[in-house]
This record gives sequence, C-alpha cells and structure tokens, in this order.
Amino acid sequence: MIVILNFGSQFAHLIARRVRDLGVKAEILPFNTPASEIAKMQPVGIILSGGPASVLERGSPRPDKRIFELGIPVLGICYGHQVAAHMLGGHVVKGEAREFGKEALSLCNKTGIFTSLSEREAVWFSHGDQVKKLPTGFMRTASTVTCPNAAFADQRRSLFGIQFHPEVTHTKNGTKILKNFIFLVCKAKKNWKITSIAKGAVAQIKNEVGNKHVVVGISGGVDSLVAATLIHRAIGNHLHAVFVDTGLLREGEVAQVAGYLRKHGFKKLYVIDASRTFLSRLKEVVDPEEKREIIGHTFIEVFEKAIRNQLKQHTITYLAQGTIYPDRIESASTSGVAAKIKSHHNLTLPEKLGFKILEPIKDLYKDEVRRVGLSLDLPRELLWRHPFPGPGLAVRIVGEVTPERLRILRAADAVFFEELKKSGEYEKIWQAFAALLPVKVVGVMGDARTYEYIIALRAVDSIDGMSADWHKMSNDLLEKISSAIVGKVRGANRVLYDITQKPPATIEYE
Ligand code: XMP
Repeated sequence: MIVILNFGSQFAHLIARRVRDLGVKAEILPFNTPASEIAKMQPVGIILSGGPASVLERGSPRPDKRIFELGIPVLGICYGHQVAAHMLGGHVVKGEAREFGKEALSLCNKTGIFTSLSEREAVWFSHGDQVKKLPTGFMRTASTVTCPNAAFADQRRSLFGIQFHPEVTHTKNGTKILKNFIFLVCKAKKNWKITSIAKGAVAQIKNEVGNKHVVVGISGGVDSLVAATLIHRAIGNHLHAVFVDTGLLREGEVAQVAGYLRKHGFKKLYVIDASRTFLSRLKEVVDPEEKREIIGHTFIEVFEKAIRNQLKQHTITYLAQGTIYPDRIESASTSGVAAKIKSHHNLTLPEKLGFKILEPIKDLYKDEVRRVGLSLDLPRELLWRHPFPGPGLAVRIVGEVTPERLRILRAADAVFFEELKKSGEYEKIWQAFAALLPVKVVGVMGDARTYEYIIALRAVDSIDGMSADWHKMSNDLLEKISSAIVGKVRGANRVLYDITQKPPATIEYE
C-alpha cells in the first residue's frame, strides 16, 4: 500500500486515483498522522501531497519528522517537496516568479523516479515558493528556467521531491513518474484489482457479520445497490433491504430497482409505499430547506417503523450504508480530521437506532464502485445512472409539491431521458433532469389557447458536482426533446434549456 499524507490539496484524491489505477492500494491520511501509526500500516511508500499553505507561514502543516527515518521511500509533491526540504535542513524562499501552468523541465539525473524520461519534459506547476538550498545529502535532479531545484533526490534514503504535479494530465509523463516511484523505488506489488476487491469485500462481510442480521436502505442509487449486492452475496437472506417509496422518485424507478433485486434473489426486500405521508407533509411547503428537513425526518420515521413492524421477528445487528471514499475523506482539509461523514445533503440515520454500522464500499471511489458492480453482474443501466438527490423530485418542483405537478414533471423527465438515451447523449452527460417552474404561461395548441407550466431542462458536465458546466448538445436534439415534451406531456406547454454554469447557479433548482 501507498500512504498519501494530505496537506489540503484538492489533488490528494487525484494522486490516490492514479496510484490505484496503477494497481496499488492507496490510502489518504491526515498530514499529521504519527509515524508509528503509518509504520503499523506497513506501506511500501509515502507520498506527501501538495497543499495551499506556505512552509514560510507560521503554523503551516508539518508531517511527523520521523516519517523520513522509517526506511520507507518518500515522494514529496509541490508543498510536500518544500516541507520535506525545509524539515530536513534545506532552505525554502518565496519564489521571484510565481510558476503556474505548464513549464519545460530539464532533467539532470534520469534515475529513480525519472528513469526512462526525456531530457526535457512538460510538467505542470502551481506554487509560489521554491527550494533555494537543498538539505545535506540531496542532489538536484531537475530544474526549470525560474526554479533551479525543481526536483531533488537522496537516492540512498529513497527520498524524492518534485515541485510540480505528476498527478494532473498536463504533466505529460506524470503517470510514468508515479509508476517509477511506486514500482522501481517502492517495489510495490499490483494487488488492487476490482475482482479481488469484490471477493475480499464479500469474505470480510461474511467474517464480520457471521449469522447476524443486517438492514440496508435502498435508494435506487448506485452506491446502496452495490453495497446491498455485496452483502447479499455474503449473507443471503440475513440481509433485509428496505426501499422507501417517497413518492418523489422518477417514473418507473421503484419498479425497476425492486424488480431487479427480486429477480436476483433478494427475498427480504420490503418496499414501503410512504408517498401519501410524504406528500401530505409537504402540502403548502415552499421553502427548499424546509422541504429537505421534512423529507429527511419523514424518511427516518418510515425507515424506523419498517424495522419495528416488518422486521420484528429478527434481531437486527447491523445497519449497512453505501458510504464511499470521498464521503469520508475531506478533500481539502488541513485540519487533519479525516473520518468525517458528509453531512451536506445526505440522509444519515440516527445513532439511537443502536446498530453497528457496515460500510462495505467505504474505501472505493465512484468509478470503482461501478466496476465492482459490473464484476457482480449488475446491469450497466443501473450502474451508470446519473446522480439523483435524496429529496428527489421535491427539489425539482420549485415551490409547492402537488400530485398534479409531480405527474407533469415525472412525465416530462421521462420523455427527456428517453430522447437522451435514444440519441446516445445520455452517457456523455454527468447529470440531466427536468424541473418544473411554478408559473403558467400562454401557448396555442391546435386552435385552442393553453395556459400551462414551464419545464426547464438541465444537463451538466461535471466531475464531482462541485462545479459544473452546461452540456452542449445539438440544436436538432434540443428541438426534438422540446417537441416531444410539449407533444406528450399534458400540463406543460413550454420548454427551456438551462445554460447557466455552477457557480453561480447550483445544479438543482432548490
Ligand atoms: P447542487 O444543487 O448543490 O447539487 O449544485 C450538487 C449535487 O448534489 C446533488 N444534490 C443533492 N443530493 N440530497 C442529495 O442527496 C440533496 O438534498 C441534494 N441537493 C443537491 C445534486 O443532484 C447534484 O448532483
């Protein structure tokens, strides 16, 4: 395993992804994790990530100095490069020219992490400070015009520093550098394979749960589905899956997911139709946060009741959750707090339920979850679904949620998806949906005047939903979608395509 100490870089996850893509397990830890704890994990290498701080600032983050004495190879990247130089007796100064963007790197030593690279390489920089004097025992291995010590090494102790970012694609041979570090220097073994992850997870669940009973909430999303499938493979009918139908899901969603699970041997699946409760509590509520709160509380109530009523003949020991890796690791934290569960948006069930928590995919990234799903023979159609918010269609109907508005939105959304799928556009989009704007406008259909709602269509390209760009698709396709919606959906007579980026807009309408 490779340990990545996170100095608050948004790139720490990217480094971990690259290492895992090379077939080696990577674990992100807070920058100040004690060396003794790291040693216990027996990593074959340590990577110090970049970060926004400057080592010249008081109180800037420092790793435990003893990590350099463990005999484990260390690679410092950007801030990690500077902090290593600084702590080992070198000298860091504010750079005269702030290097930001692509630079030409001249290599003066092509061993270690630079094995089989060219004399000149295109690399990507983003930092102001630089290492002026190297620590004793280190030698310069590369430079740029403005940064003489752009890379250094102490080959004897296998300590390396690079001022640039090998994990971003702008560094053309970045993967090669990481590969050299991982395999040539650290002598790591390729053991991070999706099929073995799935097998390992099933074995671990079997081992941990034994003959106890587990409950899991199915949301229709990828994460809960893959988590449930792994657990089902491990313990079969000791898994109880509760699927709460909030009445706020998309057309056909409950039937599709429940149908799939039943067909694949989930005998203990409880679909709870709570749509009337949700809708009556949402009556006349217009404030988005109030809607979220009502939906969150109602969900917990319904879930608890299902456990009390439907599952009462079993003693449930575990509550399984589809938590994934980025949910647990704060990507831009310098606080050193790692295991923080995402509170934004996600529904967390109360601790008072008193269950032990089972999180079988907590170490995986989304695309790894999908690949595990594929290795378990889950259909692509379910695995590659766009993200869908917990409060469902309630945050896509601006203002009050009514049965009539839900019917219109659901129908419009289904037509939108149908057209996106038919045209092959669906898989190119990160997230798409229809929203209903609560204003009625005039139209004409046949000879008659109509007075109906507006449907806004949103389709965005994004990596993680934090920022997003509106998806460019052909005018012909847009026109086809618009005609199909107005033609097929009673109650909507106008279609708008949203061309706002996030920020300043959000992806959802509420
Ligand atoms: P926003 O609207 O904040 O959305 O730009 C970013 C991503 O988060 C999803 N989202 C939610 N997911 N509960 C969820 O589980 C919510 O309340 C919620 N609100 C937004 C949204 O669909 C997008 O993928």
